[in-house]
Amino acid sequence: MSSFEEIIQTLKGVLHLIFAHFIIVPYYFFESFINLFVKKVPKSIRGEVVLITGAGHGIGKMLAKKYAIEGATVVCWDVNEEFNKATVEYLNKLGYNNVHGYKVDVTNRENVMEAAKNVKRNVGNVTILINNAGIMPHHSFLDHTEQEIRKIIDINVFGHFWTLQAFLPEMRRNNHGHVVCLSSMAGLVGANNLVPYNASKFAVRGLMEGLHEEFRQYPNNSVYFTTVYPFFVDTGLCKAAYFTYPALFKVLQPEYVAEKIYEAQIYNCRNLVLPPSMSVIVNSKMIFPDKANNYITENFKCEILSDLNLPNDKRLEN
Ligand SMILES: *[C@@H]1O[C@H](CO)[C@@H](O)[C@H](O)[C@H]1NC(C)=O
Ligand SMILES: *[C@@H]1O[C@H](CO)[C@@H](O)[C@H](O)[C@H]1NC(C)=O
Ligand SMILES: *[C@@H]1O[C@H](CO)[C@@H](O)[C@H](O)[C@H]1NC(C)=O
Repeated sequence: MSSFEEIIQTLKGVLHLIFAHFIIVPYYFFESFINLFVKKVPKSIRGEVVLITGAGHGIGKMLAKKYAIEGATVVCWDVNEEFNKATVEYLNKLGYNNVHGYKVDVTNRENVMEAAKNVKRNVGNVTILINNAGIMPHHSFLDHTEQEIRKIIDINVFGHFWTLQAFLPEMRRNNHGHVVCLSSMAGLVGANNLVPYNASKFAVRGLMEGLHEEFRQYPNNSVYFTTVYPFFVDTGLCKAAYFTYPALFKVLQPEYVAEKIYEAQIYNCRNLVLPPSMSVIVNSKMIFPDKANNYITENFKCEILSDLNLPNDKRLEN
């Protein structure tokens, strides 16, 4: 390229950037502001087949209940057969019989593919996939063993990949579907005693951002992606935490989280930060200087303590 052409190219680029920032961006800010006052139409859940991993417990169980109440066909996956059965029976007792349970280890790709085949044969194509299964050992990085690290990545990251490989092709082919993945507040900001977990939740965020971008390029795409970033949820995963101001940081209940996830899904929200007030902290972290962020984390502690020195009966099973 001659230097003249280079100058023209650069000028064009700079002008386009100025146009984008001063015309297009303000326009979309204005549009999203107006949209706050426009009543949105939720998607209907009737006739949808929703598959939830980790359905035996906590958020997964509450999601199964919520979708059953709303009239979806619910498929419960969990590696713990007993807990999974309990969820199915609990929903049956409430009068919801369109609920199916499968014992599946999401870390085992063959197991996932086999179970997916059975689900497609017996129930139908999964149109809403909710990757909820996850574990959260919490102690200092140097105390994590190799097996522990592999297990965290296997469940919290690879588990999502295998279920996506199992169900996303039909969603794409039918141009109809929704994937919801549970990341965590630790997928947005770092935390003590959670290094491998933190890494696994960052991975989920990367996976979902990428999928969203890729699918956005298909004409008339109707496959949607929602990533959920909850703060502390009372699911028993976290054995010990410390808050400087406990009244400021309410631990979330699984039922509330399930309710919000459902809402985000039917309104096609891309990201869901819970509680919503935390998104202020998350966003300011990106622009505050390091020392300002350090002051905030040191003075407003919401720390996860190591689970290693707890009495044995309180240890994490996983
Ligand atoms: C599931 O999706 C596939 C791919 O589009 C389609 O061929 C098949 O008929 C669908 N199955 C059902 C039960 O709708
Ligand atoms: C978590 O990851 C983020 C981003 O890479 C990093 O800033 C933070 O220090 C990490 N924290 C821990 C405890 O790993
Ligand atoms: C996308 O939607 C438009 C308008 O509804 C339609 O004309 C077009 O054929 C669609 N394209 C594809 C690839 O489905």
